[in-house]
Amino acid sequence: MEKLQQAATIFLFLSLTSFLANLLTAAVATPPAVFVFGDSTVDVGNNNFLPSGAPKADHPHYGVDFPDHIPTGRFSNGLLAVDFVAHAAGIHRSPPPFLSLDPNVFYPRPGVSFASAGCGVLDTTGTDVLTMTQQIKDFSTFVGDLTAAEGAQAAAAFLSKSLFYVSVGSNDLFSFFPVLIPGNSTQKDEIVASVLFQFEGQLRSIYNLGARKFAVVGTGQLGCIPGIRIRVLGGACSPDLNDLSLRYKNAVRALLDLLFVELEGFKFSFSDFFEMTSLVQSDPQQYGITELAAACCGSGSLNAEGPCIPNATYCPDRKQYFSWDAIHPTQALYRLAAELSVNGPPPFAYPINIHTLLQST
Ligand SMILES: *[C@@H]1O[C@H](CO)[C@@H](O)[C@H](O)[C@H]1NC(C)=O
Ligand SMILES: *[C@@H]1O[C@H](CO)[C@@H](O)[C@H](O)[C@H]1NC(C)=O
Repeated sequence: MEKLQQAATIFLFLSLTSFLANLLTAAVATPPAVFVFGDSTVDVGNNNFLPSGAPKADHPHYGVDFPDHIPTGRFSNGLLAVDFVAHAAGIHRSPPPFLSLDPNVFYPRPGVSFASAGCGVLDTTGTDVLTMTQQIKDFSTFVGDLTAAEGAQAAAAFLSKSLFYVSVGSNDLFSFFPVLIPGNSTQKDEIVASVLFQFEGQLRSIYNLGARKFAVVGTGQLGCIPGIRIRVLGGACSPDLNDLSLRYKNAVRALLDLLFVELEGFKFSFSDFFEMTSLVQSDPQQYGITELAAACCGSGSLNAEGPCIPNATYCPDRKQYFSWDAIHPTQALYRLAAELSVNGPPPFAYPINIHTLLQST
């Protein structure tokens, strides 16, 4: 395992620039559509349409590096990993938010983003958000419309070739942070099992509606985000939250291995965001990152005590920051994660990368 990781690191070192070139030029099999489920790591604007209790990135300085500097609802300074992944899959950027679509018009291409910032695997995580249960219900409606328009066989073929990108779970784990008992692994395993049980049901539901090609993003080093660091002595990472996230992402990966064996035609690429962030933290300079701890946009300690709102300050050198606000990564980080997800080796993209997933028949 260690050897494999070492080889992977060397491979990365040698070919980071070629990843960049690959993203732009590689002939990746184009899926007919991309469907996105999850939280703020993939929300491209659904929450703009939700009640005021829902978290929103519809104001400056969100989107400061987006074309025309417009806040779109993306929780970053620019694009998200899902935008780069969709681009590599032959789609301009993430498919549009479900709530922005005219319900009287049916657009099967290029797909739909059902994602909603603040949601979790558990329906009890998040306020005023589209829960995963609701997101799957909305997808079910889409599948009904698709089947009515094109017939069952064509709909099944369309869905089986499409990419299903799922990024959720961090908000569930964050909600347990205040009650974590230091070093108690029994407690962590109980939390992991309860969240995983619901997530398994959700993946099975999406599969049962016709999805076959899954790109699932694992939770990262949640204990190292600025919003958690300011609650830990000396601004250090929370080892217990990191450990909870490590256990959870490993459990999700094992679940995907199990579903691959059990469900006919189920294929997946697991984007191991935890390993990706470990890689960056082990040698940030190599990836152009000079600030690992503080948020770029916000106020107070580590720029993470106050939200990223119009009167907050933001850093001029966004490419050198790991975190954009107290919780979310910068576009620079998302771009790197997308490169590793699409073209990278294990353990970053496991057992195959998204490029290979899309080429599979
Ligand atoms: C660890 O967590 C378990 C389950 O939540 C609990 O029953 C147990 O008392 C905890 N142990 C300690 C030492 O706090
Ligand atoms: C920004 O404005 C809000 C009120 O809208 C205020 O509570 C906050 O302290 C201000 N923050 C800064 C950094 O000035």
